Amino acid sequence: MDLRTALKLGIAKLRAANVPSDTLAAELLLLHATGRSRTSIYSHPEDQLTEPESQTYFTLIENRASGIPTQHLTGKQEFWGLELEVTPDVLIPRPETEHVVEVALDRLALRDLHTRLTQNMSGEGLLLADIGTGSGCIAIALAKEFPAAQIYALDISPAALAVAQRNATRHAFSDRIHFVESNMLSLFSPVGAQHAAPALGNRQSISSSFSPLATRHSPLSFDLIASNPPYIGRRESATLAREVRDHEPELALYGGEEGYELYADLIAQSAAHLKPGGILVLELGHNSLPAVHPLFDTPAWSNIGVTNDLAGIPRVISAERI
Ligand SMILES: C[S@@+](CC[C@H](N)C(=O)[O-])C[C@H]1O[C@@H](n2cnc3c(N)ncnc32)[C@H](O)[C@@H]1O
Repeated sequence: MDLRTALKLGIAKLRAANVPSDTLAAELLLLHATGRSRTSIYSHPEDQLTEPESQTYFTLIENRASGIPTQHLTGKQEFWGLELEVTPDVLIPRPETEHVVEVALDRLALRDLHTRLTQNMSGEGLLLADIGTGSGCIAIALAKEFPAAQIYALDISPAALAVAQRNATRHAFSDRIHFVESNMLSLFSPVGAQHAAPALGNRQSISSSFSPLATRHSPLSFDLIASNPPYIGRRESATLAREVRDHEPELALYGGEEGYELYADLIAQSAAHLKPGGILVLELGHNSLPAVHPLFDTPAWSNIGVTNDLAGIPRVISAERI
């Protein structure tokens, strides 16, 4: 069979199974099965697939039609211009999360401007944290933008941390990104002050006992903390696409019954771990702003900003530690 026919058949099968973005999905699976580039597929649509390529491709199409996300089949997703490995242990990085990185860069640059510091383009001396790192996408994007910054990437899931670590190694950032298994920032908090994760379905609250690493590094004060926490409400789960509900990790999706439950702890812990003038940048769920904005109404915070995503949804909230 030639490439053009294979693509058409693939698209038709995905369309019949109500797969969103069917053309793009079929195209990505064809690239994956044949190891070709997009240019090569469209410039030589008459080329024949080998028998193994054809078998691989149509198995991938079947799997995609059954609801498995394309990224789980290809094992990758691009974020901030970098190809990242993704597995079912991590959230597939979303384009809207790039706004978190943009806001982080803007706010650090503004801070330098206000304090009349020359812009610290390399991030020399900066200590940054990414809470709930998942695939490592935010931490890795920050490492790319600040080639001299030190970054802590935390997650409650050891399986996610293993993926994030591989991604950091793949892009040669592993010497500057420190991966830590922790319930939010509790590993860096004094013993006894560790915050328990709220009861979320089957989630076990990991008690982050002090490891040699924590003893070496705690207490830490960061220049910037970024996070894309789980923010979907369990009560919304029936409305999620099957690709999300059935294939992405629950720990990465649900923030509680309503969705915004983790923000109060996240904001309180961040206040305790930011330097004066430090910046907190949080991604928001599509309807979390009314619940999250009031949490910044304390003497700890100033210069609260909200950034919309391309769909006009308030997507990122950021604030400065007084
Ligand atoms: C929405 S995902 C974000 C992943 C990645 N940062 C991104 O933007 O694609 C949330 C991540 O937070 C982690 N997580 C959930 N609860 C946590 C907690 N209490 N402490 C630390 N990490 C947590 C999950 O394991 C998951 O990797």
